[in-house]
Amino acid sequence: PLVMILNGPNLNLLGTREPAIYGHDTLNAIAARSATHADTLGLTLEFRQSNHEGVLVDWMHEARARGAKALILNAGAYTHTSVALHDAIKAIELPVIELHLSNPHTREPFRHESYIGRAAKGVIAGFGAAGYLLALDAVARL
Ligand code: DQA
Repeated sequence: PLVMILNGPNLNLLGTREPAIYGHDTLNAIAARSATHADTLGLTLEFRQSNHEGVLVDWMHEARARGAKALILNAGAYTHTSVALHDAIKAIELPVIELHLSNPHTREPFRHESYIGRAAKGVIAGFGAAGYLLALDAVARL
């Protein structure tokens, strides 16, 4: 079964971006660990990142067209702003797992609203890079 992990804006800077909040792992390191873990779970993983909202929407449509089992989405700041990503989740009719390295509820008030969470099947947040592996475990159990 195919699973896509999509990462939104600024996540390409992981490793150097506010490490006290997001940790020291690079996105490439997380991608490699996720690929290994997906293998052990019998899942085929595609791991991508874009800073562009519309590209993320296109990839979500692609996930549906290719019959993905589920989508794991760390939408970055678009989590808190994007009706388009919310609507894409509704449109593709795939289980979407909202993912965050940090726990947005412990942070600024503008991070407390999630347009993703209103449409997602479930949420994993606050466990740092390990959250990517936890999200894959969740997909395997769907
Ligand atoms: C984030 C949390 C968001 O609030 C923030 O805008 C990000 C990263 C996380 O993984 O903790 O870019 O999605």
